[in-house]
Amino acid sequence: MKSSSVILVFICLVLVQNLTMICCGWFSVEEQKDSPIILWWTPFTGETGNLKTCGENTCFFTENQTYLSDSKTKVVAFYGSNFSPVNLPIPRQFWHEWALLHEESPKNNPSFCYQTLISLFNHTATWSRKSSFPLTLLSLPKLNDITDEKYFIPVAKKNIIRVQEGLSPVVYVQSSCNAPSERDLYVKELQKFISIDSYGKCLNNKPLPKQLKDPSDGMSNEDFFQLMAKYKFTIAFENAIGDDYITEKLWRPLILGSVPIYMGSPSFEDWMPHSNSVVSVRNFTSPEALAAYLHYLNDDDVAYNRMLVHKVKKTVANQRLVVAMERRSWSAGHEDDFESENFVEAFECFLCSEIHRKQLEENAGYSTRRQSSVDTSHYSCPLPLHPVTQKINSENWWVEHWKHANAEANVIGRLALRNLNYTTQEFHKLVSHEITNMM
Ligand SMILES: *[C@@H]1O[C@H](CO)[C@@H](O)[C@H](O)[C@H]1NC(C)=O
Ligand SMILES: *[C@@H]1O[C@H](CO)[C@@H](O)[C@H](O)[C@H]1NC(C)=O
Ligand SMILES: *[C@@H]1O[C@H](CO)[C@@H](O)[C@H](O)[C@H]1NC(C)=O
Ligand SMILES: *[C@@H]1O[C@H](CO)[C@@H](O)[C@H](O)[C@H]1NC(C)=O
Repeated sequence: MKSSSVILVFICLVLVQNLTMICCGWFSVEEQKDSPIILWWTPFTGETGNLKTCGENTCFFTENQTYLSDSKTKVVAFYGSNFSPVNLPIPRQFWHEWALLHEESPKNNPSFCYQTLISLFNHTATWSRKSSFPLTLLSLPKLNDITDEKYFIPVAKKNIIRVQEGLSPVVYVQSSCNAPSERDLYVKELQKFISIDSYGKCLNNKPLPKQLKDPSDGMSNEDFFQLMAKYKFTIAFENAIGDDYITEKLWRPLILGSVPIYMGSPSFEDWMPHSNSVVSVRNFTSPEALAAYLHYLNDDDVAYNRMLVHKVKKTVANQRLVVAMERRSWSAGHEDDFESENFVEAFECFLCSEIHRKQLEENAGYSTRRQSSVDTSHYSCPLPLHPVTQKINSENWWVEHWKHANAEANVIGRLALRNLNYTTQEFHKLVSHEITNMM
């Protein structure tokens, strides 16, 4: 620590000197010349080249691929959905750390679910709490939203509305009907035992009220939220199952004060406001057993209210959730804009500080060899199972897609080890071989 502080002071002095001597605007020429480069290999932020400060650290961020051969390029970063297995930054220099940013569903690129591909990375920002820069709670805007009563309708009033407006106890709104998790198959079964209002494209049985027809804002406007809040239960099924892959599907009903019926991350309960705020599909042996429980809750206001302690008593008991939200630097205040860019910039700064930390350690003569090893816990998404039988469904197209992704991951892994550039044709030929070998 001591020697690195000395070096820091020295670097600062040098910088200050240069700043005063050859200053050009905000950054000195020297600073620009020496800053480590973080190269977005997948076009993503639209950055042609910019120096950015992150606390005490400065890095040069760019999407310009010609910087790959610059010896100051320390990190090559990829956005998961845009990752292409051909034209990778290969040959890779030993100082090139690869970083993966992917907050979206694993369905967009299941190749990362496999060790052979994910282990090529040194830093990740994914939904997993095990990732280097976890984005697990990205879809929860603010902790206060959970106790906020803006949309909340108490159970007595829900009972009245339900009769007056002829609503079902359960609501489902989904427009992406062909999901890896095959959630519609479960909803279809559940529907046999309890009435469900389905407003979306999938299993639609009820039109949205007229003022909500505009699909451009139908999913996020206040009227829509008010409609959803009238329901006692909301089906919250993720499009794919992975540890900690939790989206607004789960948070939204919690925020609106409707009890979510959840299918998704096996460990989701670690993040819930109370131990009893969600009905978990996995806790029931069949859709029929789940429906029986929903009927019981629907008829028993006291039992139902126990699931809404976060609204009724306005409390959040889960300290893991509270602490994680308090520590989240990129949540800071802003209501709607944080999801769009702030977490990307926060991850960029995370990478920048990692690089600077490493350089300081190296300059100080530490041989820390602290290798950041990335494994599938950073991006867990097992082969999709049938939501009712919990077995592999050979009729599910996504199962094949996952297997293909597995083959691609294996091939990329081998080619990366070989560390020679390859063509698209060569890649596809190897993938076909791999698929044959895997069978
Ligand atoms: C990329 O960087 C190189 C070298 O700095 C420069 O000559 C080229 O114009 C840049 N390309 C783009 C698209 O900005
Ligand atoms: C790899 O080869 C392709 C053509 O086969 C070329 O377009 C690409 O620039 C090469 N990539 C690197 C990183 O050398
Ligand atoms: C599911 O069952 C387990 C084991 O009985 C229990 O600990 C957990 O609280 C239940 N979760 C939900 C959401 O009902
Ligand atoms: C980065 O990951 C690669 C691939 O796993 C590994 O070979 C390399 O040593 C890692 N670099 C660092 C600095 O951890």
